[in-house]
Amino acid sequence: MSTTLFTNIASLVTNDETLGKGILGEITEAAFIEEAGQIVWVGSAGSAPSVDIAVSLEGKSVIPGFVDSHAHLVFAGDRALEFEARMSGKAYAASGIMTTVAATRAATDDELDQNIATRAVEMYEGGITTFETKSGYGLDVENELRSLRLAVQHTEDVTFLGAHVIPEEYKSSADAYVDLVKGEMLDACAPYARWIDVFCDEGAFDYDQSKAILQAGIAVGLLPRIHANQLSQGRGVELAVELGCASADHCTHLSAHDIDLLAGSNTVATLLPGAEFSTRSEYPDARRLIEAGVTVALATDCNPGSSYTSSMAFCIAVAVREMNFTPEQALWSATLGGAKALQREDVGLISVGKSADFVVLDAPSFRHIPYRPGVDLVEQTFISGTSIYRSNK
Ligand code: NIG
Ligand code: FE
Repeated sequence: MSTTLFTNIASLVTNDETLGKGILGEITEAAFIEEAGQIVWVGSAGSAPSVDIAVSLEGKSVIPGFVDSHAHLVFAGDRALEFEARMSGKAYAASGIMTTVAATRAATDDELDQNIATRAVEMYEGGITTFETKSGYGLDVENELRSLRLAVQHTEDVTFLGAHVIPEEYKSSADAYVDLVKGEMLDACAPYARWIDVFCDEGAFDYDQSKAILQAGIAVGLLPRIHANQLSQGRGVELAVELGCASADHCTHLSAHDIDLLAGSNTVATLLPGAEFSTRSEYPDARRLIEAGVTVALATDCNPGSSYTSSMAFCIAVAVREMNFTPEQALWSATLGGAKALQREDVGLISVGKSADFVVLDAPSFRHIPYRPGVDLVEQTFISGTSIYRSNK
């Protein structure tokens, strides 16, 4: 098995505070060694041991691959007209989800699979090396099941979101839909999912319905996460903490009590700047959360309705400009924060024993990500030590 030294790195973000400066464990003039897909040595370029192959990165910078802990990639169609209407003043509503449900149900397996693959390639090209994806645009047993069957071929972090909204055909019998989700649908879907999620918000599921569904998922071995407090200051965060969810996602409207609850828990608050951007909503204040001691992740929420971006760099730029993240906090949240939201120990750091998932930036440091918004700085993306994307710029 050959070992590869990556050296002449102007700035290396390790996310290991014992290795370098600040929360990012940044090392300047750095190097690291990869062997069999893992990191086996990290340090300054001057003290690197000699190995089989040496690759000079010529003063570029390296960061851990982005970990996108929240995406909805199994869908067909788009909602560009709905976006256009919003930008002319119309409000976002959860009911728009049904437009995508209709397109998804009508799509063939091949079309859906190709759509997931296309978004995944976009993600890799943008430096995402781990992503989660949810079902949630099927909303019947057959289509939720096929969504998950397709998703597992693309990622190990697959989430069952049968409780995205109550579909049209159950509008007058919401309880019957809740029973279906936590009964027959869960039985069919659970073998294909690691996670269970519920959209607990105005126009979707209330506290009691969400709790019943998440508890049913937990009972069959799924790990809970939740869409909470996106559209209103409801009880989603409270439920996330009560059930020990890995993550409460969106957190757009938080009370002081919600923040105290998150700070006293192991639940990560996952912020989704693409959603506030694309629904023209008020941004949550990350500084308030971070100062309270909450662990914060950043994710794309890539979906055709509220956040049709697969670019973590875009999310970081918006997070820094609009959510009061510092550049270093935003990068941490988009890498190690995402790994914590997915309870993944193997990714999110460039440190000995971790998967060699990293991104070479054509920039002197990570600071250029928010400093140069809209500019593609990803030169190369590696997963488990293998180059999976190289820019031809
Ligand atoms: O995370 N909030 C719920 N689900 C998605 C939006 C889905 C849609 O509008 O299609 C989200 O923003
Ligand atoms: Fe979402």
